[in-house]
Amino acid sequence: MLKYDFSFAFRETLESGLAFDEMTEIGKTLSANFEKIFLPLPGFLRILEDDEIIDEVKALRSWIEKFDNFVVIGIGGSALGNQALHFALKPINWNLYERDKRAGKARVFLLDNVDPDMITAILGELDLGKTVFNVISKSGTTAESMANYLIVRGLLEKLDLPVKDHFIFTTDKENGVLRQIADSEGIRTLTIPEDVGGRFSVLTPVGLLSAAAEGIDIDLLYEGARFGKERYLREDVKSNPAAVSALIHYAYLKKGHNISVMMPYSNRLYTLADWYRQLWAESLGKKFDVSGRIVHCGQTPVKSLGAIDQHSQVQLYSEGPRDKIVTLIKVEDFGNQLTIPFIHSDIEALSYLNGVEVGELLNAELKGTAIALAANGVPNIAVTFPQIDEVHVGEFIVSYEIQTAIMGFLLRVNPYDQPGVELGKKLTYAFMGRKGYEEVRDRYEEKTSWRFEL
Ligand code: PA5
Repeated sequence: MLKYDFSFAFRETLESGLAFDEMTEIGKTLSANFEKIFLPLPGFLRILEDDEIIDEVKALRSWIEKFDNFVVIGIGGSALGNQALHFALKPINWNLYERDKRAGKARVFLLDNVDPDMITAILGELDLGKTVFNVISKSGTTAESMANYLIVRGLLEKLDLPVKDHFIFTTDKENGVLRQIADSEGIRTLTIPEDVGGRFSVLTPVGLLSAAAEGIDIDLLYEGARFGKERYLREDVKSNPAAVSALIHYAYLKKGHNISVMMPYSNRLYTLADWYRQLWAESLGKKFDVSGRIVHCGQTPVKSLGAIDQHSQVQLYSEGPRDKIVTLIKVEDFGNQLTIPFIHSDIEALSYLNGVEVGELLNAELKGTAIALAANGVPNIAVTFPQIDEVHVGEFIVSYEIQTAIMGFLLRVNPYDQPGVELGKKLTYAFMGRKGYEEVRDRYEEKTSWRFEL
């Protein structure tokens, strides 16, 4: 079970901190509306009610096992969850292992950006005959993902490899180009449930197939997620850490803390902070509230890595603008024990390191940062993973999805849409000459014709 420490958010330990009674009213409102937020159950929780998705993914295992490489083609919510699971739950250099050391499981790569250097580097190293490509796109139209699909398809065709055997599409059950191509060519597909939006979709086939391909135990991931669903849907908000965390973030946002930093003290958990960044940003950063009032609200999520960013960012967090709340992520048992050897026993300045576990040093740094931030008046909370495994990662995902839904309620915005990215997408199509977007191009080209270029 994840542990939460909210001590450094409150007045008792933080001079400018929250008083408990400041939270009482809003806590009561939240309790009274809990049912409204989670009934009907949002898709990201509904999917946990049965094994349908897990079974569908498992049914593809023997086919996937034929491949040495699994490449995810997707972006945003169709990629960040896959990346987070990969880095959290597989050794950091997994893709360098030989097949035997990987127990026959696949290496996993990600083609998300349309950066020609990145694409060339990744594809240039892969034996495409031993590679399966999972094109993930809920809309089935996203420019970056479609471009990467076409590039890969072009290469497969050039090598005379049977396209149908090297692709699987994960997409909407009816809409989008991917569904159209799959239907006409008989390409395998997995369906993204209609009621689960991109950034909430890591526990659908979107995140599960690549996870299963590299040997992540998706049953355990669901076990943790289901536990999270029970724990974080408690209406009694005082005993619900996801609700308390959301309330604290909300209360600080109201006091001008516009930035939420997530800072894992673990390289493996760093990409989970990337996943959180999208979830918090796209779900809560909104121009309109649910009544159509212009609010321009949101809390800018920032990712940071301990201890590295103690030497880069913490000076700013500590003494810079009073606009942040920091979530420190701690790992109790790192799995790998690494003891610093006794060397230079005659040098006093190094003696405190002799014989110390590296994980203990990292956690001492986390503790020091938490206290130092608090001493400087910066609210911070800590989330502890007893160990990094499927169960705790599953629980973490659900905790933050639920927090996001709660925060959406508190801010009175719809956390499940993203109207602000639509215009950019349309303009990209327009500038690339896609039919039907001429009017958008003309309208905005006119508006942006003034230039100041150096
Ligand atoms: O959360 C979201 O909805 C977005 O970030 C999408 O995941 C992202 O834009 C990719 O969209 P799609 O899956 O339709 O290709």
